[in-house]
Amino acid sequence: MLSRVSVLPRVRLVRGARGLSNYHPIASHVDSAENTKTTPFDFNAENHARAELIMSKYPTNYKQAAIIPLLDLAQRQNGGWLPLAAMDRVAKLVEVAPMRVYEVATFYTMFNRERVGKYFIQLCGTTPCMVCGSEDIKKAIEDYLGIKEGQTTADGLFTLREVECLGSCANAPMIQLNDDYYECLTPKSVVELLKRCKSGNVPPMGRWGSLPLNGQVSCEGPAGKTSLFEEPAPPPMRADLDGQVDPASVKAHMGY
Ligand code: FES
Repeated sequence: MLSRVSVLPRVRLVRGARGLSNYHPIASHVDSAENTKTTPFDFNAENHARAELIMSKYPTNYKQAAIIPLLDLAQRQNGGWLPLAAMDRVAKLVEVAPMRVYEVATFYTMFNRERVGKYFIQLCGTTPCMVCGSEDIKKAIEDYLGIKEGQTTADGLFTLREVECLGSCANAPMIQLNDDYYECLTPKSVVELLKRCKSGNVPPMGRWGSLPLNGQVSCEGPAGKTSLFEEPAPPPMRADLDGQVDPASVKAHMGY
């Protein structure tokens, strides 16, 4: 009988076949010209105020609960990726060992530890999207941009990364482009979308905070609405917002 140890796969700490994808098992920092321990990073004045606001939501003895929103804030300030110094800054703010922050940043694929393009494409490759054609979508993107999954175009405009389910399976196949969802894609419509990005004319989000590119409304199927015919009662709104929040302004209300 084989011993338990002998059948364990050996994890090699090298770049995997998926290029720069977060799936590869690199667990250590590798210095680059723009990312060393001494590369300066600090929150700007506006984000300092946001960081204070974020930390005020948690008890002072649980400051580390703010690690994820603070990393997100740092990543947004830094053009979509997290240098080592940004992770160290967050560790200092929440008063934990830097390793505690590295553990979080290396676990969640929402955090990029290498520079990404202006348009960061996360392509869902999980089963519902896969059976609806995500491989064709990936090929169309790769062919049009001339890159492979995990790579960034030479002009720094696009990075393509394949990720697991993004929770929009009803409108598969789909991609997340920066913060927004573009759904019900075909190889033709995804290339159209990329062309619009190149010309700086990204299609705005629909009323529901995502954009099915086949013209359907939200996740209604080809037969239209088949249930929930009555208007549901809206959830109670915060009195100070005076009922003015709509999906298009959610990011503003969240401080992005
Ligand atoms: S499987 Fe693609 S969004 Fe869920």
